[in-house]
Amino acid sequence: MKGIILAGGAGSRLHPLTKVTSKQLLPIYDKPMIYYPLQTLVDGGIKDILIISDPVNIGNFVRLLGSGKEFGVKLTYEVQDKPGGLAQAFLIAEDFMDDQNITMILGDNLFVGDNSFLKDAIRSFDAGGRVFAHKVSDPSRFGVVEFDDKNKAKGIEEKPAKPKSDFAVTGLYIYDNTVVQKAKSLKPSERGEIEITDLNNLYLKENNLDVKIYEGYWLDTGTFDSLYEATKKIYELRNKN
Ligand code: DAU
Repeated sequence: MKGIILAGGAGSRLHPLTKVTSKQLLPIYDKPMIYYPLQTLVDGGIKDILIISDPVNIGNFVRLLGSGKEFGVKLTYEVQDKPGGLAQAFLIAEDFMDDQNITMILGDNLFVGDNSFLKDAIRSFDAGGRVFAHKVSDPSRFGVVEFDDKNKAKGIEEKPAKPKSDFAVTGLYIYDNTVVQKAKSLKPSERGEIEITDLNNLYLKENNLDVKIYEGYWLDTGTFDSLYEATKKIYELRNKN
């Protein structure tokens, strides 16, 4: 299993913090944000990781993380010329993936605490796709899972005005190698992006998407409040004893 950290994007919701730097380089208490998703992949047992960022910031990620030796992994870097959507990562990563399965994590997603869930999810992964849904109070900000009466996922909607559940799809995705062909088949959405939600719905349509409930602590640090909350949470954990 190889890994991707997607760490590009315009970061416009966090201006002026992200006017001259990347969102994923902002501090979360004592570390740059990207350290946390990197640690999640490392804890998942992934040793070969591709970092994707925009042309302006990619050099800073190389300066920060280098070869990956410090973390016991091999790091490779690729540029996303423009923020064309999360699913574009699989087009950029096609050569890197080399017919293998892939785990992707968004560079602004924090899974805090015991990360053995990922190791287990990867170990038992065979084919198709696997995503992690988490109960949130503000589902309209996310991809939202709709469940049938047997609690089986039947659809995912991106940022719905009227969410059909409180379960957000987190930014951690495990896919088999058909993800590349699936991503190639997608048309850009109204906002001009190749949507990961469309990709997940393709897997769902094939009856091939496993939606696991993640009950640990999760945050997408896309807003000022969630950025602050993440720092507070890490501070509390570090100073617990
Ligand atoms: O965090 C989970 C959510 O992430 C999911 O519930 C949604 O289904 C998914 O669409 C995504 O929603 P966001 O609104 O958080 O996506 P955002 O545009 O903020 O991008 C997420 C991260 O990916 C962010 O760190 C920037 C980076 N990114 C984004 C785009 C569109 C890229 O590196 N390249 C891109 O083209």
